[in-house]
Amino acid sequence: MTSDQRIRLLCVVGARPNFMKIAPLMRAIRGRSDKFEGVLLHTGQHYDEAMKDAFFRQLDIPEPDVDLEVGSGSHAVQTAEIMRRFEPVLDAQAPDLVLVVGDVNSTIACALVAVKKGVPVIHVEAGLRSNDRAMPEEINRVLTDQISSLLFTTEPDGEANLLREGVDADKVHFVGNVMIDTLLHSLERSVPAAQTLATIAGAQDIDTSKGGYGVMTLHRPANVDDPATLIVLLETLAELSQRLPLVFPVHPRTRAKLAEAGIEPLLEQSRILMTEPLGYLQLLGLMKDARVLLTDSGGIQEETTALGVPCITLRENTERPITVTAGTNTIVGSDPQKIRAAFDDVIRTGGRRGRVPDLWDGRAAERILDGIEHWVEAATQ
Ligand code: UD1
Repeated sequence: MTSDQRIRLLCVVGARPNFMKIAPLMRAIRGRSDKFEGVLLHTGQHYDEAMKDAFFRQLDIPEPDVDLEVGSGSHAVQTAEIMRRFEPVLDAQAPDLVLVVGDVNSTIACALVAVKKGVPVIHVEAGLRSNDRAMPEEINRVLTDQISSLLFTTEPDGEANLLREGVDADKVHFVGNVMIDTLLHSLERSVPAAQTLATIAGAQDIDTSKGGYGVMTLHRPANVDDPATLIVLLETLAELSQRLPLVFPVHPRTRAKLAEAGIEPLLEQSRILMTEPLGYLQLLGLMKDARVLLTDSGGIQEETTALGVPCITLRENTERPITVTAGTNTIVGSDPQKIRAAFDDVIRTGGRRGRVPDLWDGRAAERILDGIEHWVEAATQ
C-alpha cells in the first residue's frame, strides 16, 4: 500500500479489445480516488490511430502514464519485448497490484513480469476456455490464470474451468462483464448507422432502417493466414452479400492477407462493403441496427448477445459459451454449408433472440473494485 494508504493499481492495456475492458475500470478508480490510485500502462501492441487513439478518445480513457511502444512482431518478439520494457517501469512505478485484462500478448507478458517480482496479479475476464491450444489467446489465458492472485470471471463456466485447472476457489469471483459495462455506458452516444454508412464507398444506397444490412469481421490467424481458407470464406460471404449487404471493417492483419491472396476483385463484384477499422462508437451504432453479425471476434460474440442481435461465429469453438446457451450466438466454423444454413435461418426467422446473461448489467467494474478492496483488507490484517 502507498504511504497515503491508497491501493496503487497498475492497469495494463495493449490491444484493441483491451481498451473497452479498461475504460470502465479507470472510471471506477477515478470515482474511488480516496481508496485507489490508478496508473495506466499501454504496451503499444496496437498503435494505429484506427486501432488505438480513436478508442482512447471515444471511451474517455485517460492518456497512458506510460507507453512501452513495442509495436508489432512475432509472438515471441512481441511478448519478450513487452517483458523487457515493462520490468524497469514496474520497479519505478512500485504498484501494490498489477491488473491485466483479456487474453492478448500484453496480458501474459506483464502478468509474468509482475508475479516474478512478487507483485500480485489481478486477471479480469479470467477462466474463459476454447479448449483449443492452437489459438495464441488460449495459451495466454491458461498461463495468466495460473499466476494470478485474484481472478474475476464473466460467466459461470469461467469458475468451473478454473477449478478444474486447480485454481483455488477463494481467488475466483463472478462479477459480470466489463466489456458490457462499456457497451451500456456508450449506447446513447453510438454513432447512427446512417452516418457511418454515408462514409463507406458503395454503402450510400443501403436501407439504414433496422435490419437493412449485416456486418462482418475477420482477423483470426486460423481464418485469414491460409489463402485457401480465406478464399472459401470470402466466396461464401460474397454470395450471402447478394441477399443482404455486408459491411466489412477490415483489420490491418486481414487487409494484408486479402492483398496477398489476390481476392480483391471477388470482393469488388460482391455486396461486401469494405472500410477501414471503425471507431468503437461507429461499430456499436452499426451493430445495434444490424440484421446479423458474421465474425471471428471474441468481443463481438458478447456484444451481440447484450444487444439481442443474432451472431454467426466463423470459428470452430468459443471460449464464451454463455453467448450460445443464453445469447444470440451460433457457432458455424468455416464450413460454407453451415454458414449458409445459419444465415438462412436469420433471414427466414430473424434468428436467435436470446437473453442477457446474469450480471451483464453495467456494474462489473464496481464489483471488481469491491473485490480488490476486500482482498487487500484481508491480506493486510
Ligand atoms: C491481437 C490479439 C487478439 C485480438 C486482436 C484484436 C494477441 C495474441 N492477439 O491480434 O486476441 O483479438 O489483437 O485486434 O495478442 N497492426 C497495425 N496497426 C496496429 C496494430 C497492429 O497495422 O495498430 C498490424 C500489425 O502490424 C500486424 C497485425 O496488425 O501485422 C496484427 O497485430 P497484432 O497485435 O500482432 O495481433 P492481432 O492479430 O491484432
